[in-house]
Amino acid sequence: MNRFKIDLGKVKIDLKLLGDLFFLTGAGLSMYYLITHILNDPLNDTIKSKESKKKSQGILKKLQDSNPDLKNIVFTEYEKSLLNSLIVPDDLKVTFDDIGGLNDIIDELREAVILPLTVPDLFQAHSSLIQSPKGVLFHGPPGCGKTMLAKAIAKESGAFFLSIRMSTIMDKWYGESNKIVDAIFSLANKLQPCIIFIDEIDSFLRDRSSTDHEVSAMLKAEFMTLWDGLLSNGRILVMGATNRQNDIDSAFMRRMPKQFAIGRPNAAQRRSILTKILKDSQVDSMDFDLESLVLNTKGYSGSDLKELCREAALNSMREFIRSNYKNGKKVSVENGSAKVKPLRTNDFLKNIPNAIPSSSID
Ligand SMILES: Nc1ncnc2c1ncn2[C@@H]1O[C@H](COP(=O)(O)OP(=O)(O)O)[C@@H](O)[C@H]1O
Ligand SMILES: [Mg+2]
Repeated sequence: MNRFKIDLGKVKIDLKLLGDLFFLTGAGLSMYYLITHILNDPLNDTIKSKESKKKSQGILKKLQDSNPDLKNIVFTEYEKSLLNSLIVPDDLKVTFDDIGGLNDIIDELREAVILPLTVPDLFQAHSSLIQSPKGVLFHGPPGCGKTMLAKAIAKESGAFFLSIRMSTIMDKWYGESNKIVDAIFSLANKLQPCIIFIDEIDSFLRDRSSTDHEVSAMLKAEFMTLWDGLLSNGRILVMGATNRQNDIDSAFMRRMPKQFAIGRPNAAQRRSILTKILKDSQVDSMDFDLESLVLNTKGYSGSDLKELCREAALNSMREFIRSNYKNGKKVSVENGSAKVKPLRTNDFLKNIPNAIPSSSID
């Protein structure tokens, strides 16, 4: 009897142990999955940061090769990580010449912004009144050339050009974003003359959510303090672009005294933009009426015009492919044209709702 009792007791104990064992294995397994899940992201991050480190190292080398002065400058880790945002002019294709209809703005930018920044002596000798502005803002509806203008400045100004995405900085450097904001200015200071370009600047200046409020308020304050520090010394310029001028903090607006409105192009500007966009395309010498396009595209932005031209070119290419190729193989055709057909007015007009045909415009 006694023995049996003990045995039962043993069985009891064993069952409890078994239960515990099960529990522990379950917990262990979920722990394992939890840990691998947590580990996975930083793992990706380190791989990514390795890549970005490599890229920034490449940029640094390129920089030092072209500017031997920079070999003596020590960059902090934060500054190095920002080197990826540095635009290397050789990598850009856009020039001022590709921009249509903004000649007045380009002239003013050259005279009042770029030259004082890159050749300050020229201006200091003349008058201390004429200095490069510390802030420039491009504003206007989307697709009218703000980003394009900034890229052309990066290509042609001869100044270093840091193109910053604030949202990336806030997401990637969460908790350290103030250090990276410091690094933006300290890097610009080491590289000067330097333009800090913030595209879609409204997204940085608008509060995204209440939890972000404190961080972004602190960042804004930090940014403005550093910006003010530039006023006294340094050839550094902050340049912003926005579609939503009204969303920008008044404190920021005050720091960008030079503002350029880049609106939807008028007829003369559309003529210029279309000419630039089509400069490498073959147009039909008998059947292409630029004026008809200009008149029929009222209200179009530069990017709408580009899309219209792209569509027309694509159509003509499609026609050529259909008549010359079958199942991906070239076929000899008597009726098909041997060349891609040059663009005719109607290739464009057919994509404009309610277009007035070119023949009825005199
Ligand atoms: N003034 C312009 N001249 C030539 N192309 C233009 C012009 N404005 C816009 N485009 C075309 O539209 C595209 C988008 O313009 P973008 O500069 O990005 O507009 P935004 O930054 O003002 O929204 C450009 O890459 C370019 O192809
Ligand atoms: Mg833009």
